[in-house]
Amino acid sequence: MEIFIDSAKVEEIRRWLEYGVVDGVTTNPTILLKDGGYDMEARAREIAELVFPRPVSMEVTTNDQREMIQQARELAGWAPNMVVKIPVVNEYGEPSLGVVRTLVQEGIEVNMTACLSFGQVVLGAKAGATYISIFAGRVADEGHDAPELIRQSVEWLKTWNYPSKIIVGSIREVIGIQDAALAGAHVITVPPQFMTKLIDHHYSRATVAQFNADARKTLAKVQELKALASMQDLRARS
Ligand code: E4P
Repeated sequence: MEIFIDSAKVEEIRRWLEYGVVDGVTTNPTILLKDGGYDMEARAREIAELVFPRPVSMEVTTNDQREMIQQARELAGWAPNMVVKIPVVNEYGEPSLGVVRTLVQEGIEVNMTACLSFGQVVLGAKAGATYISIFAGRVADEGHDAPELIRQSVEWLKTWNYPSKIIVGSIREVIGIQDAALAGAHVITVPPQFMTKLIDHHYSRATVAQFNADARKTLAKVQELKALASMQDLRARS
């Protein structure tokens, strides 16, 4: 299973990359706005260079399918590891499947994004999407069972030998990461604040604190015994 960082914060991406646990990065226009990536091209190039050869997803920002294709070609040209995010439908419900197909046929890697249903996964795989992003938090917002959707999607792709990988995004709490992992997600894209929560644990800290305190006591005991032994040695000689 791969872990992507769902962020445009270069320092956070660098930090988790240096720990050796990052396989890629995803962003979207909301993340870029939140993380100060106002110059999308500059930020995309910086992140892509930092994580190369791992993939970096950047999203097109139009409802028009011809413009999507033009923007996608431009984004893909920014770095060899760019993956273009194409929303499964535009805001009027028009499917982007033809856009996905065209780009994949041109050799551009596509992350078909904002998916919330099994049907979207099936059609994205048939159109040839490299990645299909299921937004688990938003699936749950609508009262549906995100882990079940992930499980069924991964199983269906395997049964029919589709190479598309499921990315689980829209992570809202740590248990969502665990649920996605156990449901068989190929990739989970995790906001940095949840990476910190994944690794830290108050009881691990307390356990280490207990070990350190006992190690200090042991050291003090050893020094005390050494001092005693040298005093006894001195007395024996006098
Ligand atoms: C993933 O690729 C998306 O960018 C992201 O996880 C969406 O999350 P949200 O539902 O919190 O906006």
